[in-house]
Amino acid sequence: MLLEARDLSVRYGPVMALKNASFDVKKGEIVAMIGPNGAGKSTALRAVAGMLEAMGGTIDTGEILFEGKSIRGLKTHELVGRGMVLVPEGRHVFASMTVLENLEMGGYTNKNAAAVADDMDAVLTLFPPLKARTRQKAGTLSTGQQQMLAIGRALMLKPKLLLADEPSLGLSPNYLELIFDKLREINGQGTSILLVEQNASEALEIAHRAYVFSIGEIVLTDTGQNLLRSDEVKKTFLGG
Ligand SMILES: Nc1ncnc2c1ncn2[C@@H]1O[C@H](COP(=O)(O)OP(=O)(O)O)[C@@H](O)[C@H]1O
Ligand SMILES: [Mg+2]
Repeated sequence: MLLEARDLSVRYGPVMALKNASFDVKKGEIVAMIGPNGAGKSTALRAVAGMLEAMGGTIDTGEILFEGKSIRGLKTHELVGRGMVLVPEGRHVFASMTVLENLEMGGYTNKNAAAVADDMDAVLTLFPPLKARTRQKAGTLSTGQQQMLAIGRALMLKPKLLLADEPSLGLSPNYLELIFDKLREINGQGTSILLVEQNASEALEIAHRAYVFSIGEIVLTDTGQNLLRSDEVKKTFLGG
């Protein structure tokens, strides 16, 4: 098992945001977390990525294991060192820096210049629109291109597990398709993915398995394909 969260409960001050959530990601999988706004999906990702504290949250109870070892309480940079990188909701690229500089920032932990160059090549090959714009300031890119850059920057850290929070949010339909295709391609190259998405149908299409969140709890889990066919999921998330 790559990632295992057991009976995880998280609060922001008095607000319980996640109650006894258990989920896992096996090596090689794409796992999706779907559910309405405020259901606790981002909270689950933040708990895993060591980003709760920065948001005023704390883990109440539960355990999180990465490759069998407890990671509860580890800082983000320690988790990056273990092989887990989060692409946050809203992308957060460095707007005044170029595409190239953003990717270099991603590779900062990698001391070997030749290895950084190789990783950069791989990212630019994966995302041709970025390759065509390496000297362009990130703030002038379209939303879809910025999302590619945010994912590319994360890939520079060579994660075993890529965590992505709402990567399709705000994208035009063309880029939306492209981002899901790219996630599948990244997974095909050996990176496991834990994906939070409002766009349930697209997420379930590419996910091996998924968890359905509702008001701070996981209420359903199954393969992506089974959930796509589930009447309950259809009614709630897929518009009938
Ligand atoms: N930084 C925060 N401070 C206080 N409450 C928060 C914070 N972030 C999220 N919440 C609350 O926690 C619950 C779960 O939110 P979140 O994990 O963002 O849901 P989702 O990602 O599924 O939309 C919601 O009730 C939300 O209002
Ligand atoms: Mg969210």
